[in-house]
Amino acid sequence: MARREGAAAVFGVVPMLRSRPCYCILCAVLGLFLAWLLLFGSPTSAIAQTPKGPVSFINDIAPLLKENCYACHDAKKKKGKLEMTSYETLRKGGTKDDPITPGKSKESYLIDVLRATDASRMPPKDVGDPLPKEKIDLIARWIDEGAKLDAGVAANADLLRELRKRWSPPTPPEKYKYPINVNALAFTPDNKQVVVGGYHELTIWDAATGKLDKRIRTRAERAYGMLFLPDGKLVVAGGRPGQEGDVRIYDIAAGTDGIADPKVMLKELVQSDDSILALALSKDGTKLAAAGCDRIVRVWDLPSGKLEHSIENHADWVLGLNFSPNGKYLASASRDKTAKIWDLGAKESLVTFPDHQNPVYAVAISADGKLGISAGEDNNVRMWQASDSAKQIGKQTKSLGGHGKAIFRMAVSNAAKPLLATCSADGTVRLWDATAGSALKTLSGPNDWVYAVAISPDSKLVAGGAWNGEVRIWKVDDGKVQTAFNASPGYAPAVKTEVKK
Ligand code: HEC
Repeated sequence: MARREGAAAVFGVVPMLRSRPCYCILCAVLGLFLAWLLLFGSPTSAIAQTPKGPVSFINDIAPLLKENCYACHDAKKKKGKLEMTSYETLRKGGTKDDPITPGKSKESYLIDVLRATDASRMPPKDVGDPLPKEKIDLIARWIDEGAKLDAGVAANADLLRELRKRWSPPTPPEKYKYPINVNALAFTPDNKQVVVGGYHELTIWDAATGKLDKRIRTRAERAYGMLFLPDGKLVVAGGRPGQEGDVRIYDIAAGTDGIADPKVMLKELVQSDDSILALALSKDGTKLAAAGCDRIVRVWDLPSGKLEHSIENHADWVLGLNFSPNGKYLASASRDKTAKIWDLGAKESLVTFPDHQNPVYAVAISADGKLGISAGEDNNVRMWQASDSAKQIGKQTKSLGGHGKAIFRMAVSNAAKPLLATCSADGTVRLWDATAGSALKTLSGPNDWVYAVAISPDSKLVAGGAWNGEVRIWKVDDGKVQTAFNASPGYAPAVKTEVKK
């Protein structure tokens, strides 16, 4: 098994494709070029992307600020009271005045701090190197040219949003060179197909044969959460790690362009500055919840499309969500090592379950609403008091034990006797009786971390998706594999060729 960055880093931080050394001609040429650079000094002007015309704030300067300064000068941190999220706030300055004197870079405090060698240097010395000289020169040139804002960008426009507008997603490879890490999958309402998150796309596979039926392009690089609405439309939560996140609604029957075709990409519920990792739908199909790296749990009333709640109750990424069967409570799991239940009516936190003492990846509420069920990095599925009438709310009633390694996701069926499915880094999917909390079956096979799990609407099938791209579909009744395929279109594992001596 390849080296991993630790299970806690799974959601969003692990690179999507395993990086391997590349021996192609292109890289060889690049290597020669780099060697030439080393030998003959660095012709920075030849490689730095210095614009020929006037320097553009939004295209050239804003990305530099975002990359190097936003960690401390965004709307939340505002170090030195300076916020750089818009041109207006940048020019307003912080504890000092406007750090920019248009036309005069040498008199601009912004350039002073970038070129400083003492403690006033930005970014501060303890966080890293100064900006490269050519980047500072570029900012200075922009100031000398008048420190202008581009036409069409409002002075108070959120720069992250403006940068996202100018970004367009790459086309997914026709044939995948490396397997996709499957982070999310869902059965279609007719139980016949499985939708899997690909690289800037959704791929749709026949659940009986494992044949690729369709590919739908998406803006999001990865899908982290997926569910079908009662009307057959698909909601997908996802994003581009560290860059953006979204929750979008698709009509997967209407076409293949989920980026620009309004018949396919029906609606964007939210756009955020980092990935959205979890989704949940109330049993009656009217409330949708989503959350992720920005820690905010958002709840929409679907019939009206209204955002009803924006809950900030966790200290770190929210990794899992689930409604109580009556739709009145929302359970959340977080990297902050707790699972919580939020009372949507009273708009307050009802209970915090602290026993995992490790990141909690997934959470559910039992069919009678009385128990919280959670799992995560500590390998355990735990059950605890969740109902508000229970005297010992938040107290663990049962540790189901569970997997040999971290548990990433859980799925609960709608059947009369609800079935709970969990998936784990130990390479298995396990089935549980969600009421009694007893183990039913262990479904093994993917031989790699299983990140995603889904139960078919008719509760007859369960699907697991793994790090190595494999999707396996088992029959619930006998635990046999119905089909297994790699959800990376066109991927053919490299065949090692012997070098003849
Ligand atoms: C790791 C955090 C951090 C990063 C990254 C950072 N800064 Fe700062 N910045 C600070 C702190 C802290 C202060 C307040 C310093 C003080 O008051 O002594 C500050 C103050 C400033 C000020 C003075 C604001 C005022 O009016 O007092 C400017 C200008 C500035 N930073 C520019 C930048 C630029 C440009 C970048 C990116 C290239 C950057 N900073 C990156 C932490 C940071």
